Amino acid sequence: MSKISVIGAGNVGASCAQRIFEKGYADVVLLDIIEGLPQGKALDILESAPILKSDSRITGTNDYRETADSDVIVITSGLSRKPGMTRDELLLTNMNIVTEVTRNVITHSPHGIVIMVANPVDAMTQLAWRTSRLPRNRVFGLSGVLDGARLSTFIAAELKVSVEDVSPCVLGQHGENMVVIPRLTMVNGTPITEILPPPTITRLIDRTIKGGAEIVSLLKTGSAFYAPSAAVVRMVEAVVLDKKKILTCATYLEDEYGIKDTVIGVPVKLGRDGIEQIIELALTGEEKTALVKSAEAVQQLIKVMKLN
Ligand code: 2OP
Repeated sequence: MSKISVIGAGNVGASCAQRIFEKGYADVVLLDIIEGLPQGKALDILESAPILKSDSRITGTNDYRETADSDVIVITSGLSRKPGMTRDELLLTNMNIVTEVTRNVITHSPHGIVIMVANPVDAMTQLAWRTSRLPRNRVFGLSGVLDGARLSTFIAAELKVSVEDVSPCVLGQHGENMVVIPRLTMVNGTPITEILPPPTITRLIDRTIKGGAEIVSLLKTGSAFYAPSAAVVRMVEAVVLDKKKILTCATYLEDEYGIKDTVIGVPVKLGRDGIEQIIELALTGEEKTALVKSAEAVQQLIKVMKLN
């Protein structure tokens, strides 16, 4: 059985742990610094096993030694946004948390695969990759799977079709500079540009870009966790089940798309080795320019962190 550790037992972390546990293909360790929190949540999840018929194990802990030899480590630690904040405003606080968590994680699972969820996720992924010294295929972050799910939800509702028939194309920063490509966003093989009028497409894209903020402004006390945790589990599953799925993830680029030394969301093939291939889509000049601009926004954060 694979071993997955989830760091941070807040809403996103606990939901990830629960969803992975319920799938039954991995043992789960839920870690948090708050005493009792991960233990209590893990025990509660464990006690659902006889009803759900899961033979996985789940433990809650404050001790990184219990995460030893994890196949995948999901890092959700850090603050989330309050209403009116951008993800970028979390940079300095989450930078310290993510650095410490990554060091602890790698000490005990030097060959693991790290999936970053803490925001601003592109910058935090780059920080974790640098801190871990792992090859770039083993450290990546949640972005396009979540943003694409939001876009698909809105398109399906607009057209009154099944969400399963929508195939989204969302690249770039998980934030204000997200790059939605309508030309490559399909409904059963037809681009949405041929089905929806331009103002409707603009409205749905705008709602997608502000998707996280819309939830934050409704919840007032935290950010989204149901869709984010479902997206993380899709990524975890692609790795532990070696599915070779093409998913958009926050990925360190070395010259792909003409972008250097920057983590940004692009489609990748995910399997047992993590990122097994970076997919370079044939973008138009305008689309490429938008992606480069998006990367520049991440580079600003990298500069603030003094990573380069
Ligand atoms: C979101 O978009 C938490 O960044 C995450 O909801």
